Amino acid sequence: MATVSIIYWSGTGNTEIMAEAIKEGAESAGVSVSIKLVDNASIDDVKDANAVILGSPSTGAEVLADEMEDFVSQMEKEGIKNKIAGAFGSYDWGDGQWMMDFVERLKKDGFGVVEDGLTIHLTPGDEEKEQCREYGKQIAEKVK
Ligand SMILES: Cc1cc2nc3c(=O)[nH]c(=O)nc-3n(C[C@H](O)[C@H](O)[C@H](O)COP(=O)(O)O)c2cc1C
Repeated sequence: MATVSIIYWSGTGNTEIMAEAIKEGAESAGVSVSIKLVDNASIDDVKDANAVILGSPSTGAEVLADEMEDFVSQMEKEGIKNKIAGAFGSYDWGDGQWMMDFVERLKKDGFGVVEDGLTIHLTPGDEEKEQCREYGKQIAEKVK
């Protein structure tokens, strides 16, 4: 069975809600899903998966959370590439620049990023959770 690894950081829980809904969507497509807070994740979680889906809210001034920044830097040091990837996160007042930068970076690193990532304003409601499920499903369909 194909495997999808969801790795995320969330300060107040909004990106975490997205992660859980993305997991549901990916599972509905019939893949095996692992979901971890970035603090508990290792590089093997990326290496061993057919697709990786990375989540971080917009923090600082339109940047990834430090924890995710460190993890992505580690992925880059290991030279991991040629994998299907997704990116997601919650934001508030910005225009989504952090996600545009994240997606560009992952593409430059050699990942096949699905869509332009997925951003949700603050806490996902029912409609937004459905968007997350669809995103997870879309990614899973590419690797199953
Ligand atoms: C320290 C800090 C910096 C933030 N910087 C930005 C930002 O640059 N752009 C933006 O759109 N939102 C920013 N936000 C808002 C968060 O992205 C938003 O509250 C998001 O829903 C948090 O997601 P989480 O619950 O997964 O932590 C910031 C929030 C905090 C606490």
